[in-house]
Amino acid sequence: MQIVPVELADRSYEVTVGEGARHELARVVADAVPGARRAVVVTQEGIGIEVETGLPTEVFTVPDGESAKSLTVLEELCRGFARSGLSRADVVVAVGGGVVTDLAGFAAASFHRGTPYVNVATSLLAQVDAAIGGKTGVNIPEGKNLVGAFWQPSAVLCDTEVLATLPPREWASGRGEVAKYALLGISTYLGGPPTADQPVDDQVARCAAIKSAVVSADEREGDRRMLLNYGHTLAHALEASAFGDDERDLRHGEAVAVGLVYAALLARRLGRIDDARVEYHRRVVGAFDLASGLPAGCDPEQLLSFMARDKKAQGDITFVLDGPDGVEVVRGIDRADVVATLSDMESAP
Ligand SMILES: NC(=O)c1ccc[n+]([C@@H]2O[C@H](COP(=O)([O-])OP(=O)(O)OC[C@H]3O[C@@H](n4cnc5c(N)ncnc54)[C@H](O)[C@@H]3O)[C@@H](O)[C@H]2O)c1
Ligand SMILES: [Zn+2]
Repeated sequence: MQIVPVELADRSYEVTVGEGARHELARVVADAVPGARRAVVVTQEGIGIEVETGLPTEVFTVPDGESAKSLTVLEELCRGFARSGLSRADVVVAVGGGVVTDLAGFAAASFHRGTPYVNVATSLLAQVDAAIGGKTGVNIPEGKNLVGAFWQPSAVLCDTEVLATLPPREWASGRGEVAKYALLGISTYLGGPPTADQPVDDQVARCAAIKSAVVSADEREGDRRMLLNYGHTLAHALEASAFGDDERDLRHGEAVAVGLVYAALLARRLGRIDDARVEYHRRVVGAFDLASGLPAGCDPEQLLSFMARDKKAQGDITFVLDGPDGVEVVRGIDRADVVATLSDMESAP
């Protein structure tokens, strides 16, 4: 097992990465939540991963998909926790991908104004990103993740064995985030950024270490944590514009892969990086077996309007861009450059 510490003063915790990490749960609960006398597990039917908390436990299953991240499901969960007799000294265990960890984490943040929780991350995306860092929340019709809280888990387990049952598109989605960490160029005590030829355990551990370093430096999303949104400005616009359109439906990390290459092209247009650096972005995205072309039929003006609405935009358009000093937040980008760069993109085959 590889242990990645997340240093946050009295809210510090460990991420345990490796095959069979889920079997550490009872020990981790006993160590990280010593006062707990009972547990609730929040998971989804399709995940089918049983865990042993070491405590009397009630299991709650929530629906599959983004729609589970709702205030309605949150209410059902909290009412279930109450009926289960869960106290604020007890523990919530999330067993699932980012939908489950975001939802169960927010339920834990809200229940008794804050109950400890442990994430058992079962998707690649949750293992490298969503389960670490304490951003929790649900969606409302007015926007994704609009209602939430910063509430750090007491521990995170990333069991790479359970990825065996992960559907191919979900793997691709997770690889998009791994490619993001690869291109951020941040080294940690584990070494350099993840690479596509490493065993998945090492990739997960390196991504977890980068996320941990960024979150430790900036828990509540100032500029440093915003770096984790590399490739995400276009990705969010693609996701928003593909909403309800099956043909163009992209998983989050697949959209991030496209967004990473777009961000490189925009950085080149702004004179921040050269052709070789753009090629490097394409190579890395390709090495993670991801496409980087713009989905057919995208409307540049529509994408621009979504990008201008992106939560990082404070009046003007803000991007995370590579440059001579590495990847950084760049504000006040000209709309004309944003649109022109869209036409520099290849179309997806
Ligand atoms: N809090 C954060 O910092 C953060 C960061 C990134 C993403 N997110 C959130 O994460 C969510 C996306 O997470 P996701 O990509 O993990 O999607 P997801 O949770 O919907 O999981 C994808 C699918 O895979 C299934 N699944 C998960 N693990 C499995 C396994 N081991 N075997 C078989 N099936 C499995 C799930 O049931 C689901 O159907 C989004 O809601 C996003 O907003 C949060
Ligand atoms: Zn992401």
